[in-house]
Amino acid sequence: KRLIIINGPNLNLLGKREPTIYGSLSFTDYLENLRKTFSDIQIDYFQSNIEGELIDKLHEVGFSYDGVILNAAAYTHTSVGLGDAVKAIETKVVEVHISNTFGREAFRHQSYISPNASGVILGFGMQSYELAIQSFL
Ligand code: DQA
Repeated sequence: KRLIIINGPNLNLLGKREPTIYGSLSFTDYLENLRKTFSDIQIDYFQSNIEGELIDKLHEVGFSYDGVILNAAAYTHTSVGLGDAVKAIETKVVEVHISNTFGREAFRHQSYISPNASGVILGFGMQSYELAIQSFL
């Protein structure tokens, strides 16, 4: 199986950014653990702070990969374009958030990704990604 984790804006700062909300582990360290745990599947990784690059990546993988794990971060709540891209591709997309967005500010309760995602996992810290991967096994 071939999966890809796509992380949106500011998630390159994981480990440094608001550690009380997002934890103190960097994503590269976490990814190393993930790849060890799921050693029989290919887990690619892409992160960008640029909306169009995230859309381009969805187009690139969206007709050949077995699954996308997408944390669109702040673009979740603002991007019609990303929502449309999720709808346009064939590969199933699981939406992920580290924090419980429903327990936070009202503007985080809205998602342009959810209506077109095959499922949503949020609020389990970094473990949210692991749970999303399991959904593709
Ligand atoms: C986030 C939640 C978003 O509201 C926020 O903008 C992020 C991270 C999460 O993983 O909890 O950057 O997607």
